[in-house]
Amino acid sequence: MNTQIDNLLQENRRFAPTEEFAKNSVVTSSLYEDAAADRLEFWAKQARDLVSWETPFTRTLDWSNPPFAKWFDDGTLNVAYNCLDRHVEAGLGDRVAIYWEGEPGDSRTITYAELTDEVKRTANVLAGFGIGKGDRVAIYLPMIPEAVISMLAVARLGAIHSVVFGGYSSDSLRSRIDDAEAKVVITADGAWRKGKVSSLKPAVDAALAGKDGDTQGTVEHVLVVKRGENEVDWSEGRDIWWHDVVPAASADHTPEAFEAENPLFILYTSGTTGKPKGILHTSGGYLTQAAFTHKSVFDLHADTDVFWCTADIGWVTGHSYVVYGPLANGATQVMYEGTPDSPHPGRWWEIIEKYKVSIFYTAPTAIRSFMKVGRQVPQEFDLSSLRVLGSVGEPINPEAWMWYRKVIGGDKTPIVDTWWQTETGAIMVSALPGVTETKPGSAQVAIPGISVNVLDDKGNAVPNGGGGLLVVDEPWPAMLRGVWGDPERYKETYWEKFGDKYFAGDGARLDEDGDVWLLGRVDDVMNVSGHRISTAEVESALVANEMVAESAVVGASDETTGQAVVAFVIIKQSHLDQAEKIADITSSLRSWVGQQIGPIARPREVFIVNELPKTRSGKIMRRLLRDLAEGREVGDTSTLADTMVMKVITDQVQK
Ligand code: WT7
Repeated sequence: MNTQIDNLLQENRRFAPTEEFAKNSVVTSSLYEDAAADRLEFWAKQARDLVSWETPFTRTLDWSNPPFAKWFDDGTLNVAYNCLDRHVEAGLGDRVAIYWEGEPGDSRTITYAELTDEVKRTANVLAGFGIGKGDRVAIYLPMIPEAVISMLAVARLGAIHSVVFGGYSSDSLRSRIDDAEAKVVITADGAWRKGKVSSLKPAVDAALAGKDGDTQGTVEHVLVVKRGENEVDWSEGRDIWWHDVVPAASADHTPEAFEAENPLFILYTSGTTGKPKGILHTSGGYLTQAAFTHKSVFDLHADTDVFWCTADIGWVTGHSYVVYGPLANGATQVMYEGTPDSPHPGRWWEIIEKYKVSIFYTAPTAIRSFMKVGRQVPQEFDLSSLRVLGSVGEPINPEAWMWYRKVIGGDKTPIVDTWWQTETGAIMVSALPGVTETKPGSAQVAIPGISVNVLDDKGNAVPNGGGGLLVVDEPWPAMLRGVWGDPERYKETYWEKFGDKYFAGDGARLDEDGDVWLLGRVDDVMNVSGHRISTAEVESALVANEMVAESAVVGASDETTGQAVVAFVIIKQSHLDQAEKIADITSSLRSWVGQQIGPIARPREVFIVNELPKTRSGKIMRRLLRDLAEGREVGDTSTLADTMVMKVITDQVQK
């Protein structure tokens, strides 16, 4: 591992912005100086320039009760007004907000005026269901315009959305609905994926039916968009078709202003325990940093650029760079419903050509899977409109970075590798494309106004060339405000380790220039295709299966997905005796996890073993299992209670 990283740090290719790019860049290096001179005043200026306030704020940051921050807290605003009405009022109503492309080839072009109308109607419908300030609405939708409309309609009412990724199971949906006590669920009959309609509504029905015949919980209404045209069950009184109520609703709706710290959304993400955390974000600070980063990191020229972020709205990237950042900035963007290779492997590149996308933001896992297929596919399309490429979700290896630049970017586009998290709300570490000389593989520097550092285990800053843990030194506008319903967990997870510094959970190194290289998670969180999955979550799904006595899960490196889930399980003897074939057990356990959590968590491999490697105090040594899963020689086993265990396991796995 370390030699690999040392090689990385010797990466000496550099790409400076061209003179022309630098000349037209929306920001210059003076931003770093402004931010260094007065960090809080810098953010106050961004908040005034990029956001419209109903009541201007006079206080920038209140950090009197750390780690609970308040930003701009005496100001009031309406987030949806900032993303919609104000652009229409400024005469930009005819500007395209969304070029939406459905997987089967249908498309919709939606202007800012139209989007504003739709959101107003939807807000009126939700208000009719009794939704108002502080209420929670769960959104379980595919990538269709109604997803964006729903989020903004909830925000417009001062209510809180909790978007649940459409690939999550009914159990995952139910636990999120219950944790947030959502009153309304917005879903669709089905969605297009890989050339077929996959249904969504049955998962909502199952979630609301509950497990042991309990009731639908806190949910009063389910609003259903027709997209898949598939048959669905209907619960009279509870379920309402979107098309029956939204078009008929009034398009008059006056946005009310809410305080800057009014909660905007909850988004669940995996932590080190089995129970996902509801990450809470609020309004003014979040919107400021989402808009600022969207503009400066992607060099957005809102009147000419076409932006495309490929993330699903079920992830934070979809929140900040499909919904809030681009729309607050009045940008024109592409939104695509389906998978990258449907109906043909060049679908994404075809979309870039069709809409002349100029800024493109995607994940390393996607880039690596395109590399596998080969450059001949993208080369069939005209990608010359591209001028900025972005990467997010996991470290991008230099080889993939170079391929991205050469094959997709025509060897001319700057690449911004953006490090951030669900918790940080918006980009924290990234190059600025018109300013920074970029380095393949490094996320490089904190953006202006953000302060990060790399510390050793004792909390001392490491010198250039050293490695340790990434922290954020100072509170930032888009920071999480807590874990929904669990302030203790918020303190423990992020603030206990270093006291006054935010512990991100990532390992990092600083190179000789002081640039940051991310090394992956240091906790029991896996990163599969840029999605966070905790080992504990998968383990608890496995032991919930009647065949499984015990399990240990590790993230093993994978050429395409970054990491892959690999599970080691002990099967109860009674089931081993019954089973026809071991292969049947492993494949049924793989699908079981897929059903319990969602297909993204399905293990790549399940190994059946008799024992797990444990320390004398009973802690599973996942490090050794990871060695095994990655095909390495197994490391130091001296702290195991039984040092022979790994040999037995290795023999079993290699059989
Ligand atoms: C974790 C956060 C940020 C939106 C998508 C993921 C990893 C994210 C990078 C990057 C190296 C990265 C980290 C982080 N990560 N971006 N550019 N380079 N690692 O959000 O699901 O909250 O996951 O993703 O490990 O902690 P998330």
